[in-house]
Amino acid sequence: MFAPEGVDLEHPNVARVYDYYLGGKANYAVDRVFGEKALERYPFVAPAAKANRLFLHRVVRYLCKQGVRQFIDIGSGVPTMGSTHQVADEVVDDASCAYVDNEPVAVAHSRILLEQEEVTDQHTVLHADLRDPDGLWQQIEESGVIDVEQPVALLLIAVLHVTQPGPSGEDVGPQAVARFRELLPKGSYLVISHGTADDVPEKRKQEMAEFGKMYDKSSTPVIWRPHDEIEAFFGDFEMVEPGCTWTPLWHPEETGENAPVIEFDSPNDSVVWAGVGRKA
Ligand SMILES: C[S@@+](CC[C@H](N)C(=O)[O-])C[C@H]1O[C@@H](n2cnc3c(N)ncnc32)[C@H](O)[C@@H]1O
Repeated sequence: MFAPEGVDLEHPNVARVYDYYLGGKANYAVDRVFGEKALERYPFVAPAAKANRLFLHRVVRYLCKQGVRQFIDIGSGVPTMGSTHQVADEVVDDASCAYVDNEPVAVAHSRILLEQEEVTDQHTVLHADLRDPDGLWQQIEESGVIDVEQPVALLLIAVLHVTQPGPSGEDVGPQAVARFRELLPKGSYLVISHGTADDVPEKRKQEMAEFGKMYDKSSTPVIWRPHDEIEAFFGDFEMVEPGCTWTPLWHPEETGENAPVIEFDSPNDSVVWAGVGRKA
């Protein structure tokens, strides 16, 4: 596979390894070696990643039905298993989407997809970083695809458990999200999913810790937050029913006709906690 400029081929990367878990092809040998080892030791990861992706699909369908027509998908990753604009297009014909990622391979593949579908006047892809919310917001405004004065759905799906080091190394994810909450116009929605080891059986907790440790040597370490810290990302936003929950439990009635069936013994096997908040 070609390597866009700036891509780190020395270390596995969370975007490309996640693509591997989902069965995609936008990954390199370094990512596949890492992914194979992870799935061999922790097979629960692949269904958890797929269930996370299906949560994204259901949220987009649900929000389109609530009247949302603008989506900002930050940490959008490699387009696999149905992307935000494709799911929105199943429901409405006038939705716009801005994809944002800081990983060059994810950005390149998203651009190729939009070009192939000839939809670059309706949707866009930005190579940008969520740690700079104001700069990112300006880029979104300049793209001309999203009207930042009108309500949007801001998606932060499986991205905030990727460590977001600030200038002194501390995780600035919570600060960045707080700034996004301020920037969002009233009536906007904030969508978050996040890996957690809270309320999972002891054995799975141990596996989550070991699996997380594997990422310490990657270019993108991860952090599993407890439920209360994930809920804190929503600040004073009104939570959409049923509030934060395990991904398979969030509006299962929005499951697509052809969605793959992911079986879990128990919902907490999905190890990803998710919710949607609305700015009143
Ligand atoms: C696990 S993937 C999730 C992809 C997609 N949101 C999903 O849930 O299917 C995390 C994505 O977040 C991106 N990411 C991590 N930190 C980021 C940052 N600071 N700014 C923008 N994107 C980031 C990674 O490159 C990767 O594509």
